[in-house]
Amino acid sequence: MSVETHQQEQWGTRIGLILAMAGNAVGLGNFLRFPVQAAQNGGGTFMIPYFVSFLILGIPLMWIEWTIGRFGGKFGHGSLPGMFDELTDRKKPWAKYLGVLGLVTPLVVFIYYTYVVSWMLGFSFFSATGGYFGLGQVGQMRHYLYSFQNIFDSSMHGGWLALLFFILTLVFLGWVLSRGISGGIERLALIGMPLLFLFAVVLMVRVLTLPAVKASPAEGLNFIWNPHWTSLADPKVWLAAAGQMFFTLSLGAGQIHAYASYLDAHDDVTLTGLSTAATNEFAEVVLGGTIAITAAVVFFGVSGAVSIAKGGTFDLGIVAMGVVFQGLPGPQVWGQIFGVLWFFLLFIAGITSCVALATPTISFLQEEFDWTRQRASYGVMAVALLLGLTQVVFYQHGFMSEWDYWAGTFGLVVLATIEIFLFSYVYGIDRGWEEMHHGADIAVPRVFKPIMKWVTPAFLVLLFAWWGWTEAIPTFLMHGVTNRADIPYRWASRGLMVLMGLVGLFLIRKAWRNKTLGPAEL
Ligand code: ALA
Repeated sequence: MSVETHQQEQWGTRIGLILAMAGNAVGLGNFLRFPVQAAQNGGGTFMIPYFVSFLILGIPLMWIEWTIGRFGGKFGHGSLPGMFDELTDRKKPWAKYLGVLGLVTPLVVFIYYTYVVSWMLGFSFFSATGGYFGLGQVGQMRHYLYSFQNIFDSSMHGGWLALLFFILTLVFLGWVLSRGISGGIERLALIGMPLLFLFAVVLMVRVLTLPAVKASPAEGLNFIWNPHWTSLADPKVWLAAAGQMFFTLSLGAGQIHAYASYLDAHDDVTLTGLSTAATNEFAEVVLGGTIAITAAVVFFGVSGAVSIAKGGTFDLGIVAMGVVFQGLPGPQVWGQIFGVLWFFLLFIAGITSCVALATPTISFLQEEFDWTRQRASYGVMAVALLLGLTQVVFYQHGFMSEWDYWAGTFGLVVLATIEIFLFSYVYGIDRGWEEMHHGADIAVPRVFKPIMKWVTPAFLVLLFAWWGWTEAIPTFLMHGVTNRADIPYRWASRGLMVLMGLVGLFLIRKAWRNKTLGPAEL
C-alpha cells in the first residue's frame, strides 16, 4: 500500500487491516448480546430472520460503508459530515449536518460500551483471584454482579471499584489510539484477534465436552439450530434480528467508514468487506452462539437458560457463566482459568471495538480542527470519562438502557437508512457501483445492485413502519419501565444525548465556516 491518503496515516498491511476491521465488528455483541437475543427470541427461530438480515442488510451495507469510507478518505475525511458532503458533490448544505449522527452515535455507544468492557477487565480479575467462587447459585452471582454495577451498593464490592476499572480501560484506550492507525489500532488487532480466537476455541471445546448436568451439550446446539417456523410471523423477532445485525457488524455508526477512510484510493473494498462480515459471523454464530448458550443449557436446561437470558443482557454471559465456571469438573483452579479466558476474551473483543467507536470523533477533531492525534485521543477519553460518570453513577436508574436503545439500536438504523438513500439515490447507484469496484479483488454479484437500490431501503422502511406501529409510542413514553421513579433519570439520559447532538451540529457548522472563511479571516 502506498502512502498517499489523508493525514499521512494508513493501514500497514492487509492482514492488519482485515484483523482491525474484524476487531471493529467482533465485540461484546457477538459473545454477550447475540446469545441473549437468540435465547430470548426462540433459539432456532431467531436464526432465519438473522440470516435474511445478513443477506439483505448486513452484506450490502457493509460494502456500501467501506465504499463511502474509502471515497471520503480520498478527500481527507474520516468522519461522516465530510463524507456526506462529498457524496452529495458538496451541493447539498444539509448533508453534512446529517453526518452528525456519525459523530454522536459512535461517541454515545463508545462511552457506555467502554464502561461495560471495563467490567470484563474487572471480572477477569475476579476470576483470577477467585472473587466470586463460593457463590454457586444464580441468585448469589446476580447479587455479585449487581453490587458491582451499582456503585451505591457496597454489599459485595467497594463502590469505587467499577469506576477504577473504567478509568484504567480509558487510559489504555487513550494510549493505543494516540499511537495511530497502524502503530496503535492495527498492532492491537494483530495481537488481540489471534488471542481472542484462541481463547474462544479453547472455551468452545471445553463447553462441547462438558458432561451433562441438566442437559447435554447437544441439546444446547439443538436449541439454537432447530428452527420453529411458526414464530417467523412475529415482527418482534425480525426487529431483534435486524437490530443484532447492525450492532454486531458495527453498521450505521460511522466506525466502518472511519477505518475504510485510511485505505489507499486504489485498495480493494469488496473482498476485504466480505472478509470482515464473514469473520464476524464465524465469531458470532459458531463461537459466540456455542459457548454461552450451550454452557447455560448444560447447567440449567433449555428453559432455565432462557429464563436467565430474559433477566438481561449480562445475565447469560456474566451470571450464568460465573456459575458454570464454579461447577466445572476438577479443582477450582480450572474454573478460575476458564473464567479468566472467558472474561479476558470479552475484554479483548470489546477494546478492539472501542478503538473503532472512538475513531470517527478523533478523525473529525484532527481533520476539521487540526488537533494532533495525541490531543484528540486523550481529549476524547477525557470527555468519555466526564460523560461516562453519569453512566457509572446512574446505571441502576436505566441510564445505559436509554443510550443503548436510542443510539445503540435505533440510531444505527436511522443512520444506515440515511446513508443508503444518499448512496443509491443522491450519489447514484451506478456511480456507487463503479466506485465500489475500483481496485476490487472480486466482483460483487450483480444481484446486489437492485438489492442496494430497492430491497435494502424497502426493508429498512418496513422496519421503521413496524417499529412505529408496535413500539414507538410505548417506548418513547416509557410504558415498560416498571420503576416509575427512574423516569426522570431516563429523561435526563435522553437529554444528555440530545445535548451531545446539538454540540455536534455546532461543531460541524463551525468547521465548515472555518473552511469557507479560511485562516486569514477568522
Ligand atoms: N460490533 C461491535 C460488537 O458487536 C460493536 O460488539
